[in-house]
Amino acid sequence: LPTEQARFSSLTLRRAHDSLADDVRLGLTAADKWLPCKYFYDPRGMALYERICELPEYYLTRTETAILKHHAADIIALAPAPLSLVELGSGSSAKIRYLIEACLARQAGLVYYAIDISPGALDNGVRPLLQEYLDLRIVELVGEFTDGLGYLAREPGGPRLVAFLGSTIGNFTEGEITSFLAMLRRVLRPQDCFLLGFDLIKDTGVLEAAYDDAEGVTARFNLNILARLNHELDADFDLTAFAHRATVNVERSRVEMHLVSRRAQRVRIGRLGLDVRFRAGETIHTENCHKFSTAGMETLLARHGWQVLRRFLDPQEQFCLVLAS
Ligand SMILES: C[S@@+](CC[C@H](N)C(=O)[O-])C[C@H]1O[C@@H](n2cnc3c(N)ncnc32)[C@H](O)[C@@H]1O
Repeated sequence: LPTEQARFSSLTLRRAHDSLADDVRLGLTAADKWLPCKYFYDPRGMALYERICELPEYYLTRTETAILKHHAADIIALAPAPLSLVELGSGSSAKIRYLIEACLARQAGLVYYAIDISPGALDNGVRPLLQEYLDLRIVELVGEFTDGLGYLAREPGGPRLVAFLGSTIGNFTEGEITSFLAMLRRVLRPQDCFLLGFDLIKDTGVLEAAYDDAEGVTARFNLNILARLNHELDADFDLTAFAHRATVNVERSRVEMHLVSRRAQRVRIGRLGLDVRFRAGETIHTENCHKFSTAGMETLLARHGWQVLRRFLDPQEQFCLVLAS
């Protein structure tokens, strides 16, 4: 059997660092300051995100994992065989193992494409998968979702199941969801399936706790984006001069994460030759986490040509996975 190394390959289509400077200039010179949440995930951000996933308050990961564990065989049974798996924003590739197992139970070998803007799949979690599943090949595609899907659209091969887990779709604006679903439909082939995991609308208190945990891990995760700017753009953010804030915006059905300037201050971003002024209390909006209803999401999917095959929920109806073709 080919060795683990021979069953793993990594292809860089785009590096996050390449667009960081332009995006930071755009976001921090805007009237309402913001930063794109995709820059959370440098190696330290990845490690902090993994810790968030294990927090008692952060129900999302364990709920989605439980649904997958319970229904992986049902999901795969609804998709054509033989299949390859594609994961968008694969991160640590922890949840995909249930789909890998269900695929390998019905076909001889499997290729899993892990698409993520943050490189390091091998170190971040796919090594155990390669050790455990000897008929598994893994291709890491480092780049944006669009880069990875564009690459796969040009590659020959049979049907694919594209998984987009972790409620990452909740980080998109409404406009971004629209263009994402339209793009997905353009690049996938008629036999391909789409598995979407999204968080459901729920009690404000549960959401507040999930995004502002008692241990302060989410706060460190949020602040780490400033540390990244210090390292990569030669900025001089004083991390103690900013505070993490997570608020529930009921009207817009989302949790908003901000970094609040604790005082009036000026920050130098060396690589951009830019000084950024902050008023006391002024915020940098770093992330939106939209919550959906099953009906709302299914309407969005239908509007973009996706037919829902089946939906899977946990018993408390906190989280939903939808399989569409
Ligand atoms: C919320 S985490 C989810 C990780 C994993 N799917 C899970 O369910 O735990 C989002 C992941 O998507 C990646 N990501 C975010 N924006 C991206 C983009 N525009 N293109 C590619 N990957 C992106 C991040 O690097 C991160 O690994």
